[in-house]
Amino acid sequence: MSVNMKGKSLISIHDLSIEEVYQIFELAKLLKLKRLSGEPHRLLEGKKLGMIFSKPSTRTRISFEVGMYELGGIGMFFDGKTIHLGKKESISDSAKVFSRYLDGIMIRTFDHQEVVDLARYGTIPIINGLTDLLHPCQVLTDLFTILEKKQTLKGLKFVYVGDGGNNMAHSILNGCSKVGMDVVIATPDIYQPNKEIMANAQQNAKYHGSKVVITPDPVAAVKDADVIYTDVWASMGMEGEASDRDKAFANFQVNEAMVKNAKEDYLFMHCLPAYRGKEVTDAVIDSPNSVVFDEAENRLHVQKAIMALVM
Ligand code: CP
Ligand code: NVA
Repeated sequence: MSVNMKGKSLISIHDLSIEEVYQIFELAKLLKLKRLSGEPHRLLEGKKLGMIFSKPSTRTRISFEVGMYELGGIGMFFDGKTIHLGKKESISDSAKVFSRYLDGIMIRTFDHQEVVDLARYGTIPIINGLTDLLHPCQVLTDLFTILEKKQTLKGLKFVYVGDGGNNMAHSILNGCSKVGMDVVIATPDIYQPNKEIMANAQQNAKYHGSKVVITPDPVAAVKDADVIYTDVWASMGMEGEASDRDKAFANFQVNEAMVKNAKEDYLFMHCLPAYRGKEVTDAVIDSPNSVVFDEAENRLHVQKAIMALVM
């Protein structure tokens, strides 16, 4: 049975029902097959997506723009610094103006509240392309990629090693707990996840009978892992903290010695961009267990599905 998602914003995977998550995956799978076979799938003929970026991007920008083109619409890039958004014009006024021109907005910015407010005051769907708090399109893609490789999500052990307080750790807590995976976050004591996100993840785990664990011991954490995931130690906007963070995360590098504890057929995942030699070694990211480029490709298919469903 399909769920009508038209008009819905995607700000957090926490706002989606399990049915909506699997509906996105089903459509993504279909659109991936159509693209592979060269079959047209212009589900958004003539539609216009505004793409606002206040932080840099390679994957998100290209995959959304290519995605809109392949769906028969257009993705338009706007530099957050050169449009009026919260400066000289309130977010609520900007949201109302965007809604008169566009059929949807994808936004990457610092302050999560900006995305929440755009959705609140506008009348078109808003897609979160990363904030300091969350990165929902990435985690949806990561789950889709795991499902492709392992044919299931429920019951798998997902271990995130690194900054437990960043957008990826938060979206992983939201997403993996929602689909019934066991989630372990291995992070130093001073980089803990947001309390509300943790509480929601615990709630999801209770529903599924799964586990959500935070630990400062990455080596013990990855024991029998099905998935090992890492991300940069200093996210965009935190570059000034890089040298402190390099010290704090020194024992959190995903390297060959660490991954020995995982299952033999574990998947190595990273949202990219990766700092090779910091959070992950070449030997791990280039190993046969690594699926990082499949993840990057799947951004396209999953986001096309999201846009086709909500726009
Ligand atoms: N993973 C990801 O969002 O990559 P970009 O920063 O290149 O968009
Ligand atoms: N945590 C990283 C994710 C990049 C896709 C950052 O925010 O820089």
